[in-house]
Amino acid sequence: MSEILDGKRLVMGTCYYPEHWPESLWKEDLQRMLDTGIEVVRIAEFAWSKVEPTEGNYIYEFFDRFLDLADEMGMKVIFCTPTATPPAWLTEKYPEVLNADIQGNLFRHGMRRHYNYNSPVYRKLCAQITEKFASHYGNRKCIIGWQIDNELNCEKDLFYSESDTEAFRKFLQKKYGTLESLNEAWGTVFWNQTYTAWEEIYVPRYTYSNSVNPHQVLDYIRLISESARSFAKLQSDIIRIYCKPGDFITTNGMFDHLDNHKLTEESLDFYTYDSYPDFAYGLDMYEEDEGELRDRKWSRNLSEVRSVSPIFGIMEQQSGACGWTTRLEAPTPRPGQITLWTMQSIAHGADYISYFRWRTATMGTEMYWHGILDYSGRDNRRLREIKQVHEKMQAISEVAGGIYEAEVGILKDYDNNWDAEIDNWHKRVDQVSQKSIYAAAQKTHTPLDYIYLTDSLKPEELQKYKVLFYPHATIMSEGRAKILKEYVANGGTLVVGCRSGYKDLTGKCVMYKLPGLLAELTGTDIPEYSFIAPDAGTVTVDWEGTTLEAAVFTDLLEMAGENAEVKGTYTSDYYAGTPALICNQYGEGQAWYYGTAFTEGAAKVFLEKLGVAEPYARLVELPAECEIAVRKKGEDRYLFILNYDKDSTALALHKEGINLYTGESVLGRIEVPGYGTLVIKVNEIS
Ligand code: GAL
Repeated sequence: MSEILDGKRLVMGTCYYPEHWPESLWKEDLQRMLDTGIEVVRIAEFAWSKVEPTEGNYIYEFFDRFLDLADEMGMKVIFCTPTATPPAWLTEKYPEVLNADIQGNLFRHGMRRHYNYNSPVYRKLCAQITEKFASHYGNRKCIIGWQIDNELNCEKDLFYSESDTEAFRKFLQKKYGTLESLNEAWGTVFWNQTYTAWEEIYVPRYTYSNSVNPHQVLDYIRLISESARSFAKLQSDIIRIYCKPGDFITTNGMFDHLDNHKLTEESLDFYTYDSYPDFAYGLDMYEEDEGELRDRKWSRNLSEVRSVSPIFGIMEQQSGACGWTTRLEAPTPRPGQITLWTMQSIAHGADYISYFRWRTATMGTEMYWHGILDYSGRDNRRLREIKQVHEKMQAISEVAGGIYEAEVGILKDYDNNWDAEIDNWHKRVDQVSQKSIYAAAQKTHTPLDYIYLTDSLKPEELQKYKVLFYPHATIMSEGRAKILKEYVANGGTLVVGCRSGYKDLTGKCVMYKLPGLLAELTGTDIPEYSFIAPDAGTVTVDWEGTTLEAAVFTDLLEMAGENAEVKGTYTSDYYAGTPALICNQYGEGQAWYYGTAFTEGAAKVFLEKLGVAEPYARLVELPAECEIAVRKKGEDRYLFILNYDKDSTALALHKEGINLYTGESVLGRIEVPGYGTLVIKVNEIS
């Protein structure tokens, strides 16, 4: 069983860079960490040259000395493969390992993640260094697990090297077999793009207005995902040979153009996430609107991570200001915010919290990206706060292994995620709805899960959700339609929005009556549709007396089948009176087709009318600025209350519980300070 996610306790760690500091500091640093409650360090992810300073010349002593010390002092270690930063000698001698921009210009030494996954030379050299690391250090007592590379697809998630084109051709040959079926799948008859030899096919290249065949781009993103996964697998297969039984393999993320679910199934024991909510206060991300979720939005990312690994780790948790010398200016966390963001992670399923980083770098691009300690290393406010966080983590440790509870879910799949990125029509509706549904759920205190319709999902797993939104699955497959039908037939409530089901897996439009494969399930027909015209003003929908604001797009609906019922109509423009919302009884459940994108207000009405808003109202009454997240273990519920506001507020607890920070029984009005958190244990049986 893994040392850090054993389901029994919460564990604290930090990221450490022995190569950045005089060796004389190591012992004192490790001792101070242990005194703070930090029992794990992650090391070596950018330190290739420390072990192979010149090609084929391996020197192990540096990390041996560090690991000796860790062993001696009882510090546990997550050891990383160093492949995110190839050494200068390597890229100089083998420039084919470099990634390139769309015009073929190579990304040179000096940054990081400038390699490509498909270079046969780089894969060979990475396999070699992974084997050297794993075979030499793998038996160390202090090592408890391994991290592959660092943040796959961070910084660049597009790859245009020659090796990528070679890999793309192979990927397509395997997928389509013949050029004829590739031409068919990509609709190359349009604009005379027909291919007559595999050598004519490239990863996207520079074109007018950067418009490349969309079906080609969709396959290209699939290639990137597959390349990153096989790059990780190459390393994890080697580590497995050498690591001690029980040591885990993970990687940290999460980034785009990567099927993190498959990655985890194939190569990892669990997924870890790097959580930096301070970005929300960064110069380039700060949103003036008071209604914005800001750092609370990180709960959305954490919910995505939970869809990959229900219990996960945070490999890098914010502990200081953000800042590169070239970008990303954000303030030092205010008193309480480190605790708040840590508890946000734990509330969503993280049982391991590792702070980035112990000491702030005194050199390089990231010298303003602060860790726990500033340059001098003196004790400071952030270190004191982290000591207190550790005490809190000890006090609530029994939540470890508890599963996040949600009755509402948002369905997702990678085909639609990627299509929404490359297709503007899809992007516009998706962005509005994803943001709005999440915000509505947060503000109505309705916990929510993301569920990916992956090949390995067991359809019955959906049944635990009372309501599932699948906002704009423009791409629909027979397999996914079948899963949705089963869910609804067995009593589930499915809500889909406009533009559902009009494409197939290649991203081409289907010639069925819309919504295509979802027509029967939703009892809906769509004879006409349109973007909301810029001069249309506010377009509204009347849902049995409640007014909803439509957004971006309108599908003009008609009922199809005897079990369909019109629940709402448009009240604006030339389509006033036309159905906008249809509910279809299907088996034991209901499928709803909503002809537009979801505004926050509309999403809130759906949650309320479908009876899933505020599921914990019987236990606790909360102000809007607080998030509630609940982890459940047996009959015990752990209520995490997180106040993202700088001012204090109060809640009303209706059922007696235990404040786990203090061990005291609590009931009634409870004060929550600005940026304050509470963990209350409630057992509804007792
Ligand atoms: C992460 C990365 C770290 C560090 C940090 C701050 O994305 O994994 O190595 O760069 O951001 O920029």
